[in-house]
Amino acid sequence: MNFNIAIDGPAGAGKSTIAKRAAKELSFIYVDTGAMYRAIALGLLRKGTDIEDEDVLKAALDNIEVGIRYVDGEQRVYLNGEDVSSQIRTEMVSDMTSRSSAIPMVRAKLTDLQRDLARREDVLMDGRDIGTMILPDADLKIFLTASVETRARRRFLEQEQNGDSCSLEEIEKDIRERDFRDSHRQTAPLRQAEDAVRIDSSDMTIEEVVEEILRLVYERRARRENR
Ligand code: DC
Repeated sequence: MNFNIAIDGPAGAGKSTIAKRAAKELSFIYVDTGAMYRAIALGLLRKGTDIEDEDVLKAALDNIEVGIRYVDGEQRVYLNGEDVSSQIRTEMVSDMTSRSSAIPMVRAKLTDLQRDLARREDVLMDGRDIGTMILPDADLKIFLTASVETRARRRFLEQEQNGDSCSLEEIEKDIRERDFRDSHRQTAPLRQAEDAVRIDSSDMTIEEVVEEILRLVYERRARRENR
């Protein structure tokens, strides 16, 4: 039987870095669901779709096919057969993803794809609604978070490295707004599943968080085998 891990949490808590490392240690498939939402958003942007118009959106979604494949252990995302993995990381795509992922029709398109992956493989899936909606029976659910100040500082350092300039206050304000939007939206709001283990990474290194996740996996596995 497969072992599935759900990792949810707000942007900037270190989810993808940590999930990638833990999946590698465990030889699990890492599924970055945010990348799938981003691929749909890119498709909608390319078509210039008015996402407020239901009929127009439905027609556009009918012509968007999202797929994922693993090349050298890395997840690649495809939009109608084209590898768009690097094109989905722009600000414009992030903005469209944040708006389009709140629409039920968009979420419905990815639900089966995500559940199907988990049925076939041992997965470590990261997103916002994995433990609450997509894999309610996951063997381990983690809610990974960090204080707003920590997440802002991390993003600030990241942007500084990339040569972008933005004030720490601005970033902090942006994060607070995004948190509010993500956790108050009607469809699949970001919230911790009741049976999720909460990990606050504010004062932890990446290695410490990965270690803690591995420890929880081994513990759950042993419990399952002894049942
Ligand atoms: O994790 P990320 O930054 O790549 O996510 C991009 C956007 O997609 C973000 O606005 C939240 C949204 N998202 C979602 O609604 N549900 C998921 N399972 C994953 C991401």
